[in-house]
Amino acid sequence: MRKQIAAANWKMNLTASQAETLATALATGVTHLQAGQQVILGVPFPYLILVQNKIAGNQNLFLSAQNCADKLNGAYTGETSVEMLQSISIPFVIIGHSERREYYHETHSQLATKVDLALAHNIQPIFCCGEPLHIRETNTQNEFVEKQLKESLFHLSNAQMKNFIIAYEPIWAIGTGKTASSGQAQEMHAHIRQVLASQYGIETADTVSILYGGSVKAANASEIFSKPDVDGGLVGGASLVASEFISIIESLKPGA
Ligand code: PGA
Repeated sequence: MRKQIAAANWKMNLTASQAETLATALATGVTHLQAGQQVILGVPFPYLILVQNKIAGNQNLFLSAQNCADKLNGAYTGETSVEMLQSISIPFVIIGHSERREYYHETHSQLATKVDLALAHNIQPIFCCGEPLHIRETNTQNEFVEKQLKESLFHLSNAQMKNFIIAYEPIWAIGTGKTASSGQAQEMHAHIRQVLASQYGIETADTVSILYGGSVKAANASEIFSKPDVDGGLVGGASLVASEFISIIESLKPGA
């Protein structure tokens, strides 16, 4: 079995004082999770330590960076390395978000390098995949997502794939208010698990948490998370409002 995860992606939002207020509300509001559930906060780099201090003592909340460099260290102005993240005890990093792929032209092989660097520093990637609208319209989304997984993840060992976290985020549903139906989400998640099973075996595929992302909110989370292969969500806009995100957390199934 696998963990059920509510992951927030704050993206490039909030001032420091707003981040502090939100972190405090979550630290006091996210008190009892059921077995096998986990909450991860994807926080902008400048606020990682600030939020870390605010959530210290709350065993249910974990921090994630939203990106990392594809180089270990050196003369790469403006970049943030996994070594830096490890040195401040950040356990997760979002890799391959569609906004990074689209606006910063991150390639499959760069993402593979980032995944390797993160794992080598004991940081668990939350690896994002998902198709744009024109691919969905030609009904080739399965092949598209399969290629994203193969090119950036399939060099990993079986041990590295165990308990891995993948977020399926159809690009046409991100920040648009258009959610994939729970049926569409389940269909793709089952496909992803089957692709993983064909490479790593069903036992390993069953340990991978596959999160859905794209306009998840309190009103639709229970329905989407109820599907057997949907193991929670990666939440953008709705994660910026404490009450909304807490209600999404409460919609998680029990995990294991
Ligand atoms: P959204 O973003 O929930 O605002 O659609 C999700 C994401 O991009 O991770």
